[in-house]
Amino acid sequence: MTASLRSAVLEAGEILRLADVSDAKRDAALLLATVLGEEVTYLYREPDRILTDEERKRFKGLVVRRAAREPLSHLTGHREFWSLDFLVSEDVLDPRPDSETLIEAVLSSRKRGFNPQRVLDLGTGSGCLLLTILSEIPSATGVGIDFSAAALDVARKNMRRLGMEARTEFHRGNWDLDLGEKFDLVISNPPYISTGDIEELQPEVRDFEPHLALDGGTDGLDCYRAILSNIRNILRPGGQLVFEVGMDQAQEVGQIMENVGFSSPEFHKDIAAIERCVSAFLRD
Ligand SMILES: C[S@@+](CC[C@H](N)C(=O)[O-])C[C@H]1O[C@@H](n2cnc3c(N)ncnc32)[C@H](O)[C@@H]1O
Repeated sequence: MTASLRSAVLEAGEILRLADVSDAKRDAALLLATVLGEEVTYLYREPDRILTDEERKRFKGLVVRRAAREPLSHLTGHREFWSLDFLVSEDVLDPRPDSETLIEAVLSSRKRGFNPQRVLDLGTGSGCLLLTILSEIPSATGVGIDFSAAALDVARKNMRRLGMEARTEFHRGNWDLDLGEKFDLVISNPPYISTGDIEELQPEVRDFEPHLALDGGTDGLDCYRAILSNIRNILRPGGQLVFEVGMDQAQEVGQIMENVGFSSPEFHKDIAAIERCVSAFLRD
């Protein structure tokens, strides 16, 4: 690889483009900025700055990994979600922009008068959903649950970085947990990919994200059914449940929610106009 910042980005962008990485030049720039410990804007301010041998070597290593379709966030170690900075690793699902729909759904109910103070997040992963909601509702406290101890380590790091220790707990647990408490709000983005569809996912997801975070069983809905079969142990009557769902799952999940005693569900679309979240209140 050649030596100026400009030529390094151009050359790496071409390598990533040939590896079918979408947004190849942007990824090249972000990887170089990571190596330099700078913002991307630095690359455009100092295009003629020459890379040291050490920087060049580290950059090349990251470009090779990205060309093998390792997710960008695993290489930079970070991902922005709802304008907050989250640490990520191979142990957690990379927070997705689509999941901001769940945050919007919670905040839209709050605007209409439902102000939850105790929040439970099932399958918390990096903790992005719970910690974002607590950042938006400063009087609330919450608990995040995950079956993966490694994911919980990442979530706890994010909790400390965002200064949320006093308001957040993370515990290892399964969908059938009983914490001896009924929460005002339960949120969950459970694994929802049908087992048979996992092979079809893009390599970044299929080969590098934890399958425990993806696999929703034969029809993708196993985790919704498991959570709903336990819902009266964890959500108070009158409390709200907000699920993220996969493409074309919203109506069926909404129907199962109604069957177990929820009011008429609301459906929330993401920026691609896909029904991405289902929310409803539990009847007495
Ligand atoms: C789709 S990821 C969501 C992560 C995070 N909430 C987000 O939205 O980015 C689902 C999470 O559920 C966890 N999980 C899978 N099966 C579980 C189970 N039986 N009990 C508890 N957590 C589980 C996975 O480890 C993973 O972190």
